Amino acid sequence: MSNKFYTTTPIYYPSGKYHIGTAYTEVVTDSIKKYNKLKGKDTYMLTGSDEHGQKIQEKAEQAGKTPKEYVDEIAKEAKELWAKMEIEYDDYIQTTEERHTKAVQKIFDRFMEQGDIYKGEYEGWYCVPCETYFTETQLVDGKCPDCGREVKLMKEESYFFNMKKYADRLLKYYEEHPDFIKPAYRKNEMINNFIKPGLEDLCVTRTSFDWGIKVLKDPKHVIYVWVDALTNYLTALGYLLEDDTLFKKYWPADLQVVGKDIARFHLIYWPIILMALDLPLPKTILVHNWIMMKDGKMSKSKGNVIYPETLIDRYGLDATKYFILKVVPVSQDGVFTPEEFVERYNCDLCNDLSNLLNRTVSMVNKYFGGIVPKYNGTPNDVDKEFEQFTLEQISKFEAKMDEYEISNALQEIWAIVSRTNKYIDETMPWQLAKDEEEKEKLESSMYHLIENLRKIAILIKPFMGHTSENILRQIGIQDENLKTWESLQSYDKIENAKVIEKGEPIFMRLNVEEEIEFLKEVMKAK
Ligand code: MSP
Repeated sequence: MSNKFYTTTPIYYPSGKYHIGTAYTEVVTDSIKKYNKLKGKDTYMLTGSDEHGQKIQEKAEQAGKTPKEYVDEIAKEAKELWAKMEIEYDDYIQTTEERHTKAVQKIFDRFMEQGDIYKGEYEGWYCVPCETYFTETQLVDGKCPDCGREVKLMKEESYFFNMKKYADRLLKYYEEHPDFIKPAYRKNEMINNFIKPGLEDLCVTRTSFDWGIKVLKDPKHVIYVWVDALTNYLTALGYLLEDDTLFKKYWPADLQVVGKDIARFHLIYWPIILMALDLPLPKTILVHNWIMMKDGKMSKSKGNVIYPETLIDRYGLDATKYFILKVVPVSQDGVFTPEEFVERYNCDLCNDLSNLLNRTVSMVNKYFGGIVPKYNGTPNDVDKEFEQFTLEQISKFEAKMDEYEISNALQEIWAIVSRTNKYIDETMPWQLAKDEEEKEKLESSMYHLIENLRKIAILIKPFMGHTSENILRQIGIQDENLKTWESLQSYDKIENAKVIEKGEPIFMRLNVEEEIEFLKEVMKAK
């Protein structure tokens, strides 16, 4: 069985600063990559930017720049943000790069030759900012149903991709590959909303602007958004280029992560494009929900935007990522509120996790001069139940992660955190310490606390790398073998660990009113 794990994010539109919502896809993908890396897989993660189209051409003009200058600047900013967020992508593709444009032209040619693409005429109501045509009935009060702005009636000669031809094959594929779409309910949405009512052919070129990849055989046409954008997942690996080593090694993708707004393109058009190219389909496409604000979508005009930098600079990267990942459950949107952010920080990170570490480190110092006692090899009833609970939670965590349910997976880790806090109350080390005859129980209690903190540190590593390292350092785990995924199964391997002399809180309690006030202010700021 292959040990590789290729995962992609959607390539981002260069539309200015990315807020925590946009960063969500990136953080999810990065966490899943790091989880697979922890499990010893040969991982490869792709991200990038989607740089063609009328909207970008117009934005560049407004900024007094060439489109290429404009997109390069935004790609640079995006890379800086991903670096700040410690996103470990392996490649960043810009669709204006030659390795992409050349391959897209070849792909388009092939579709023309195969008869998948034909020439026709397109007429519809066009929304420039959304780069989308709508039918009369799709408009809301005569305006764009997505952004509410004015639309223009436009008509142009266009090429179309014959999607209908593949509809049955696609349905069959869905049926035979239950893991292809996660969560599964998105499959029914596609079938009921788009495929059953009759799949429309997709308009794949434009003549009304020229910031795009030209059709080689008919250069007044530029290839329009989706055939250009979606194929990045192949071209970044060198598909149709001289050196296609990466393509041979990593395709098909194991996981492609996309937000719900672009589900249709990835669950219908993308597999059809791959079928037309005779290529295998990705194993799974994960469709995630959105981070919303109380009053709907994040938008500058509403004054409700929150940027990752703001949270990172004030609360640290790990707390920011924890919140972003925790707030969106699998099947519905999550809502960012300052109250919820502060609550999660104070409860989950400070009270539950940080205090657990602190109490444990100070008890090991107090009762054993900082040296973690040896495992006595025979757990008593309390310890046995505690060990079993923890190992079961680890299995649950793994199951959730393998379904890509990150928020739920984090919940499984925090169940261990809570159970470990409860274990302190159950074993009452301060009582045991009073009685020399209870020494063995006290040793066992300390050992188990340290052992669970070690396990927690490993489990949070894909999401909160700094906190993970910090915990391991404070509890004196230096042996690399005790930081691995495999070592989660063992309960008896810690030897000669020395905790730090004075515990350092990993998360300090926030002043609730002050921080809520702060967050409300920055959300308003333009
Ligand atoms: N360029 C297209 C994708 C082409 S892929 C071949 C695009 N780009 S985007 O910049 O608009 O969006 C990038 C990602 O951000 C998408 O996955 C989108 O769902 C995600 N999000 C944007 N706002 C979001 C939230 N508020 N919450 C969660 N994810 C959100 O689409």
